[in-house]
Amino acid sequence: MAPRSKPSKQVQERAAWLRDAITRHDERYYAHDAPEISDAEYDELKREIIAIEAEFPQLVTLDSPTSRVGAPAVTTFAPVTHRVPMTSLDNAMDETELAAWGERVAKGLNGAKHAFTCEPKIDGLALSIRYEDGVLVQAATRGDGKVGEDVTENVKTIAVVPKRLVAPKGVAMPSVLEVRGEVYMPIAVFRQLKAAKEAENEERVRAGKKPESVPANPRNAGAGSLRQKDPTITASRQLAFWAYQLGEVVGTPAFASHHESLEYLRSFGFPVNPEIRLVKDLQGVSEFCENWIEHRHDLDYEIDGVVVKVDDLAQRELLGFTSRAPRWAIAVKFPPEERNTLLKDIQVSVGRTGRVTPFAVLEPVLVAGSTVSMATLHNREQVAVKDVRVGDTVIVRKAGDVIPEVVGPVLSLRPKGCKEWVFPSTCPCELKSTLVQEEGVADTRCVEPACPFQRDQRIMYFASRGAMDIEGLGEKTVYALSDLGLVEDVGDLYFLIVEQLLQVEGFAELSATNLLAAIDASKSRPLPKLLTALGIKHLGPAASETLARRFGSLDRIMEASAEELSAVVGVGEVIAESISSWFAKRENKKLIEKLRKGGVQFGNVQVSTLPQNLEGKAVVVTGTIAGYSREEAEAAIKDRGGKSPGSVSAKTYCLVVGEAPGASKVTKAEELGIPIIGGEQFEKLLATGSI
Ligand code: IVH
Repeated sequence: MAPRSKPSKQVQERAAWLRDAITRHDERYYAHDAPEISDAEYDELKREIIAIEAEFPQLVTLDSPTSRVGAPAVTTFAPVTHRVPMTSLDNAMDETELAAWGERVAKGLNGAKHAFTCEPKIDGLALSIRYEDGVLVQAATRGDGKVGEDVTENVKTIAVVPKRLVAPKGVAMPSVLEVRGEVYMPIAVFRQLKAAKEAENEERVRAGKKPESVPANPRNAGAGSLRQKDPTITASRQLAFWAYQLGEVVGTPAFASHHESLEYLRSFGFPVNPEIRLVKDLQGVSEFCENWIEHRHDLDYEIDGVVVKVDDLAQRELLGFTSRAPRWAIAVKFPPEERNTLLKDIQVSVGRTGRVTPFAVLEPVLVAGSTVSMATLHNREQVAVKDVRVGDTVIVRKAGDVIPEVVGPVLSLRPKGCKEWVFPSTCPCELKSTLVQEEGVADTRCVEPACPFQRDQRIMYFASRGAMDIEGLGEKTVYALSDLGLVEDVGDLYFLIVEQLLQVEGFAELSATNLLAAIDASKSRPLPKLLTALGIKHLGPAASETLARRFGSLDRIMEASAEELSAVVGVGEVIAESISSWFAKRENKKLIEKLRKGGVQFGNVQVSTLPQNLEGKAVVVTGTIAGYSREEAEAAIKDRGGKSPGSVSAKTYCLVVGEAPGASKVTKAEELGIPIIGGEQFEKLLATGSI
């Protein structure tokens, strides 16, 4: 054996620090349901101490967090000693660590064949529920793995947890059955609770009171709800439960495998997760993990990984336990969606309509695979309700495709002297115009028409994908053009020349020519795009499309009265008024003339002269109609004022079924009771507008 090396003083001190830190974080997580660091950061500390202790076993102490599971045994609820300890799980942070675990298992089983059960890892609170002769007698949290807290009365309020068991026909009632699983708060319930608490806080803030803390995520909300002194509060929180493991059992059949034991639990009425799968090898495990990394947000509960368990119970016996966790199971952790970071500053941005939005400037942090350094704080009220202050450690969350969000501050880490943030009274642009907050509206606005920030945003919007789609005209270039005074409104874009672009930092002959070509190409964008690009309040792409079809050119739209505009289905009075007043403004009239002079095409839509007898009606076509291609059939509907969406919904007027139709559209129409007509009736539909 290699001689044991001696840890340096530095390593010894680090180990002691890690032990203290982990103990403190355990306490905050388990006893107060108010962690100060994210799960990912906690895992990092834990892995570091494990690595140090593995290298220097002489540093392992009796109270080391590596030989303890979860919380230091606690306090307010009566203690319950677990007859079978509730161990934790080792983690695999990536494929390599999963493969290494797989190898250890294969080695431990001397290469014998073995299957795995894969289970979503519920981000909730572990619970052991004990039944004696079919009656729920005790429920306990995990605590430190040996001693947990008695939460029986609270668990009895969870609707999906059976209070009294009914044995399936021909199956004996076990005299003791301990069921382990996870209590959680469904996401929908969490959202409701959070919204209600936030609304309460808005009221409090308006009344000049301090906002109360809002649970950061379903886990904290679920744990807090379970550990209520008053079970009626727990009952009101609609908690749920998934069973995934047996504890002590007396009088059950001798199970050969884990999945058999889960089936047994299911047959007694326990909720067992329907997503659990038995797979034959690590390839199957990887596929299961990949699927849930992609689809984790399709579930109504939060998962933070996948738990993989050797299925055969005899094989589990062979593998056994380490001091802290079974060798036969592993938790594959997903990339964290929540991290803590420093809120360095709160600044405001000005949008194209003048809306002023506060945003958080963060110490950059990697969340769910991308670095987050900024996040919107929405409006003045939200900052007050969340009570985030410069200098706070804040929880940043980025779930799925959702844009990053500041969940709230970690109050226990707030430095002394942190001041409430005050919304600026003037616009951050050089004009420093006074900001306006309209009565009863959360938004604050800059109403200065010459505000350069608004102007830059309008130009960016004009050039964006859904509008004039000018490739290469991004944020940086817009700022540069505007700083150099080359572009004051979107009309100026069409008069730029190569020499001017060469003044912009980073531009050379080729990039300048390319940008001018892209601007040139945008001159012939279809009318609906141009209409959208003007950025008229309330006028989105759908109404732009309808107006273009009805009027055919920008000039005709400008000439139309508000009444004429609002007579078009899908436009309505608000949009019509907004369009009329936009075109009535002198500066906008000037802009339109500049665009015309610059060569932008104002009308290339053919106006239908046909009667608009399908106006406002959605007609879905499936299969081939004699005499029409698919495009021709859709155009025929649109030319008569109708719409032709690709799928059937409750709003569909009728479904036209041609040759070789798609079965799903027909079934959907039948389900929804939507009228179905044959292809031969299409002509009549076009001519009369009805069926
Ligand atoms: S099995 C001996 N299965 O994850 C095996 N745990 O990090 C004990 N968890 O303490 C646990 N989903 O609170 C198991 N399907 C699942 C789980 C699961 C969530 C939690 C549980 C456990 C922790 C370990």
